[in-house]
This record gives sequence, C-alpha cells and structure tokens, in this order.
Amino acid sequence: MSLDCLFSRSGKFAGKRLHLGVSGSVACYRALDVLRALRALDMHVSATLTGGARQFVTPLLFEALGAMPVYGDMFAPGEEAFAHLEPGQHAQAMLVAPASADTLSRLAQGAASDMLSAQALAFDGPLLLAPAMNPRMWQHPATQANVATLRERGARIILPACGRAACGDAGEGRLAPPEELFWQALRALAPQDMAGKRVMVTVGPTREPWDGVRYWSNPSSGRMGGALAVAAWLRGATVTAVCGPGCPGLPSEIRRLDVGTAREMFEAAADIWPDMDCGCFCAAVADFSPVPHGPEKFKKEGAEAGFSVSFAPNPDILRTLAARRRADQRLLGFAAETAPDMDSLLALARAKRARKDADLLAGNCVNSAGCGFGCATNSMAVTDRHGHEEIWPQQNKADVAWDLLTWLLRI
Ligand code: C5P
Repeated sequence: MSLDCLFSRSGKFAGKRLHLGVSGSVACYRALDVLRALRALDMHVSATLTGGARQFVTPLLFEALGAMPVYGDMFAPGEEAFAHLEPGQHAQAMLVAPASADTLSRLAQGAASDMLSAQALAFDGPLLLAPAMNPRMWQHPATQANVATLRERGARIILPACGRAACGDAGEGRLAPPEELFWQALRALAPQDMAGKRVMVTVGPTREPWDGVRYWSNPSSGRMGGALAVAAWLRGATVTAVCGPGCPGLPSEIRRLDVGTAREMFEAAADIWPDMDCGCFCAAVADFSPVPHGPEKFKKEGAEAGFSVSFAPNPDILRTLAARRRADQRLLGFAAETAPDMDSLLALARAKRARKDADLLAGNCVNSAGCGFGCATNSMAVTDRHGHEEIWPQQNKADVAWDLLTWLLRI
C-alpha cells in the first residue's frame, strides 16, 4: 500500500536529497512506504540498512523502490572507502526510521562502529530520529537518557505511537505513522520562511443539523484547507486548523480544533484570531442553517407534500474577523464559484476580495473538471488588495497552497 496524504503529490520537493537510515525493528517494512512517498516527489533518497535491519528486509527491496545508493556494512568488500562520509556531503536531511534502542544508544555516544552511526557522525544537517521498540525498552531510563542527549544536540525526535507492539506488549513504542515521518522529512527540507508566524486555517465543510438524523452541508473534503495548514507548518509556522467534519489527517504538531456547525467554527476561529498573524479562510462554511426541527427524527409519514424548511443566516467568519483585524494581520479568502471561464471567475474573486476586505482572494470553479470540492487539483484566479491578479493553470492543491502562502507573505 502506498502512502497517500496531503503533500504526497507536491512538486515543491523535486531534486531534494534525503538519507534514510533503517535499523533493526519489525517496523522496518514501514520505512518502505516513506521511501516510496519521497521518491514519488522526485526526491533523491539514499539509504543505509544496519545489520539488524538486513535481518528483516533486504537492500534489494530498497534499491528496487528507488533508493540510491543503498549502503550496508562499512567493511564489506566492494563498499566505497569513504561511503561513511557520503550522506554528510550530499544529503540535506537524514531520517532514521525505525531507530532501534541500539541505534539511539550508538548515536547518543557518538559511536562510529557501523555504517549508519559513522554516517550520522559525519552529517551536520537536520537529523530526524523515529524510535521504534518494545514499550519497556522505550521507557527504560537508559533509552530516555539517550533520547534526551540526542535532542539536546539538535536531533528531532519523532515520538513513537501507543499501541500493541509485535511482541504483544501494549504501550508507547510503535513507529510513528508513515505520514508523520513523511511530513517531518519534508519539514526538514522546506524553507523556514514562515518561522515565528502563527497561522489559523479554517478547513472543510460545516454541518448544520436539522433534525435528529439529518443535516445541511456541502461536499468540501478539506483538502485545500488541509494543504494550506500543512504548507504553513512545513515552512515553520505554528498552525491551528479549525476543521469541519471529515477533514483529512494533519501532522500531529498542527493544533486541530474540530467543530461541527458554522456557529461553532466562527466561535473557535474568533477566539484564537487575536493571537494570529495570518488567517486562511478556506472552509466551505454553510451560509445558512435550517431552523432546527428538533432532536427527534422528523417522520416522513404525515409530512405534507412540498413542506418547507426555513433557513437562518450564519455569521460570515472571514468578513467578521477581517473587520476586527489588526494592521499586521493578513487574511486569505477563497471563492468557490460556478463561472463559465477563468476571466469571469477573476471578476467574481475581485469583487469578493473587496467585499470581505481580504488581502488575497483565491477563486476556483467548482463546476469544472479537476477543480474544486474533493479534487486533488485546482485552477485558480487570484487577486490581491494591491490590484495584482493572476490566473493559475491546474495544479495539485499542495502546490496551490504553497504558492498562495508565498504571495500572502509578500503583501
Ligand atoms: O461569500 P462566500 O461564501 O462565497 O465567501 C467565501 C469565503 O468566505 C471563503 O474564504 C470562506 O471560507 C469564507 N466564509 C466564511 N464564513 C461564511 C461564509 C464564507 O468565513 N459564513
């Protein structure tokens, strides 16, 4: 199964170079998902399998999935004399996943007794370590001390997850999910041009209940808003995502506030807005809510033919928070429209930007192929408060998000 998550189709990381270290753990096979996902972005990935890892998986499997070169024993016949220095010369980040207790211990000691520890010692870029081991080995003071030492030296620890280990013991120690490893690897390679910025993103649809079982909503998948949240986080921002129902998974370092209705989304967003530098208002907020019938299920038996439901307007989150903005806050809005062509879309986006007082407004057609609700791609008509306007051809939502943030930073 290959990893499919926000940013797994981005073009922004093509040509970046990562070194993947794999040490002995049942979780070795999961490093293959990460390798495939990074290669799918056209990144160069080299790999080192420790002796322990080679008991679980073969170098050939890593080679077949595009890792090049794949290093083994330091003194194996045919191994280059300076192979232990190569990742330090070529790679821009190093990820060790899974990192066994033994590997953590060697790295903490600064050992150079095997290929992976020597390569780590000769590497001065960002080092990411994703431990995986039995929960008691993880909790042991020796392991915890090694982790603390490595963290102090600047290594980023991708904490293990809770669950049942292969041996049957339950607790913390399972390798973090592959998406988390993938996102952390990208973050180590991304420009940190949003470091220090606090960004809020509203994401996905809202759901307005009518009776005990029915609601009013729209087909928004949360992909565009999720991509914005991830892009800002990858670039170093501190991100809060206010998510409607059914939104995609996000990196664990993104603060996620799950809400249901437009009113709940408004309250959550309004509450944190004063602490933010940027707001990306990407949610497809229901403009109206049905006046509730009540908590019971409305019975169709006895309903009049053509009975009517009344609707009441919801607060406009973007417009309300734009009216409360400080001069240093930046706002990005969206317009999901049904327009006949991109020029008409641009005109709608221009009018909406002014009406809502956003700094930047991105319009997309929800009625054309490869655009809008639920799609992996979008084509956009973008306009800003200084009258700059652009029409962007179809590209994946991760890259749309990336380019919108670049524009927002410039305003
Ligand atoms: O007016 P319209 O719904 O087309 O505006 C779209 C923009 O306004 C989007 O950025 C959307 O997130 C935001 N919006 C909002 N609150 C609403 C309606 C829309 O924040 N109630």
